[in-house]
Amino acid sequence: MTSHDFERLIELEFVRATENAALHSLHWMGRGDKESADEAACDAIRGMFDLIDIRGEVVIGEGIKDNAPGIFLGDKLGRWGDSHPRFDIALDPIDGTSNISKGMPNSISVMSAVLVPEGRERSMVNIPSFYVEKLSFGPRVERAIREGLVAPITLDLPFSHTLEIAADALGKRISELVVTVLDRPRNQHYIDTVRNVGASLRLIADGDITAAVAPSLPDSGIDLFVGKGGAPEGILTASALKALGGEIFVRMWPRDDAERNELLGQFTEAELGRIYSRDDLVSGDSAVFCATGISDSPLLPGVKLIGKTAITHSILMRSRSKTIRYIKAVHDLETKTIHLHSLRAEEPL
Ligand code: FBP
Repeated sequence: MTSHDFERLIELEFVRATENAALHSLHWMGRGDKESADEAACDAIRGMFDLIDIRGEVVIGEGIKDNAPGIFLGDKLGRWGDSHPRFDIALDPIDGTSNISKGMPNSISVMSAVLVPEGRERSMVNIPSFYVEKLSFGPRVERAIREGLVAPITLDLPFSHTLEIAADALGKRISELVVTVLDRPRNQHYIDTVRNVGASLRLIADGDITAAVAPSLPDSGIDLFVGKGGAPEGILTASALKALGGEIFVRMWPRDDAERNELLGQFTEAELGRIYSRDDLVSGDSAVFCATGISDSPLLPGVKLIGKTAITHSILMRSRSKTIRYIKAVHDLETKTIHLHSLRAEEPL
């Protein structure tokens, strides 16, 4: 079987993993306990991987934040049989744990897997800084840049200039641009710039993967995403954009001198300032990205509970074919079980 065929077979297993994470964490919606929600999602995702015939290695994990329980860098996922294909795995069992804990919108369970061909070391870059500066835009802006119709955008440009270029590329006035920013003091400069140029601002409290993917969705109404946020979320976004089109740029952003010095132990000053594009972050053309909505977001509706039934909405994309599947699943909670890693067993929900 070729690796191409294998991706087709395995992709639904990945969706099961994020579906199970969404369903298993739902109990914690609104309960003010983001760690337990995260733990439940991790247990379900890892439990599903225990059944999958791959050699997966976590290149982008989570759990470092707040010492939360998590799936960490270097963790092995899958059954690891000798003949099983190797995948680099990036995951965020919940992006938007605070949102879940408050019962707020915008939380998803999300992962990406990229085949590591024989002889290749890695298919994804691990960015070790806690935060990165990010800027993402959709395929129309990307195409206008590629075709030389507008000047290139980079993270180095004054942001007001970036907004002018994006407006030009989209044939809009600046006042018609819609820009999403993660609402944090460190992003105040971007917030002020959007307001000063008269563009329309959408602040989000948490969960910047859906926000950064949104400009690449045809009907999101969002033109650009900008701001400093989690590094893993940036790489997961890059993986989604491999299938959707659109671009993301990221650059490490050390929080303080201690982190900066730590990073300078691994990188030169120039490397620290490097701007990574989507294809630098996720190389090759075999990225599989999937996500399941937990609470409603621009990307996906959240889980709906109707009596003894749960309805989940997932998105599954492959960069090789660029097929984007929206998968609505109806789960009968009287018969549904999920495989939990902690119990090494199938459990009813
Ligand atoms: P988690 O749910 O995984 O904790 O991440 C939520 C999130 O809002 C990310 O989407 C974002 O990139 C990051 O946290 C921002 O970090 P911080 O809350 O420390 O500003």
